Amino acid sequence: MKFFIDTANLDQIKEAQDLGILDGVTTNPSLMAKEGITGHEHILKHYVSICEAVEGDVSAEVIAVDFEGMVKEGEALAALHPQIVVKIPMIKEGVKALKYFSDKGIKTNCTLVFSPGQALLAAKAGATYVSPFIGRLDDVSTDGIQLIEDIRNIYDNYAFETEILAASVRHTMHIISCAHAGADVMTGPLSAITGLLKHPLTDIGLEKFLADYKKGN
Ligand code: G3P
Repeated sequence: MKFFIDTANLDQIKEAQDLGILDGVTTNPSLMAKEGITGHEHILKHYVSICEAVEGDVSAEVIAVDFEGMVKEGEALAALHPQIVVKIPMIKEGVKALKYFSDKGIKTNCTLVFSPGQALLAAKAGATYVSPFIGRLDDVSTDGIQLIEDIRNIYDNYAFETEILAASVRHTMHIISCAHAGADVMTGPLSAITGLLKHPLTDIGLEKFLADYKKGN
């Protein structure tokens, strides 16, 4: 399973990159605003800085909601850097844009996916990634991980190549459950990624090893 970090914070992106386990980055307009990145030019510059900080795919979301607007904006984003993946919302115009970019060989990430039907449409349109939002489903008493399992089953039935990118991952158990469910990628905050490191028995064991070593030296 690939690990993407879901943030526009460069320090956190670099920290995950330094761990050696990072495969890419996802962003969205809310994550940009959270870092105080506003204004078109500033946002574009920030995407380039993110691409330069990591080796993998970097999702950059379009703001337009009409086909022509998405195409214009997506082409400009894709031209920014070879690592850019154009992030398109799961709406009717978005499906058309996914097909357009797929035909042109430009990578896409279909975002705001909450049902198997939406994921099926994204795959039919040739999306590179589909992003089911598992945390937001859990927020409304619906099983987000079940959606990952459903999409995995559907995609495997027909050998769709679209990668399942589990998004809105909030904590370590989401990551583990995504791995069980067969997500191709998970994108989450740094806290969820580094949370995987933690186990009290590791800390206790290491403390004892070091103490015993010191006894003999
Ligand atoms: O990857 C999508 C993500 O940014 C949404 O996460 O926590 O706002 O539901 P969240």
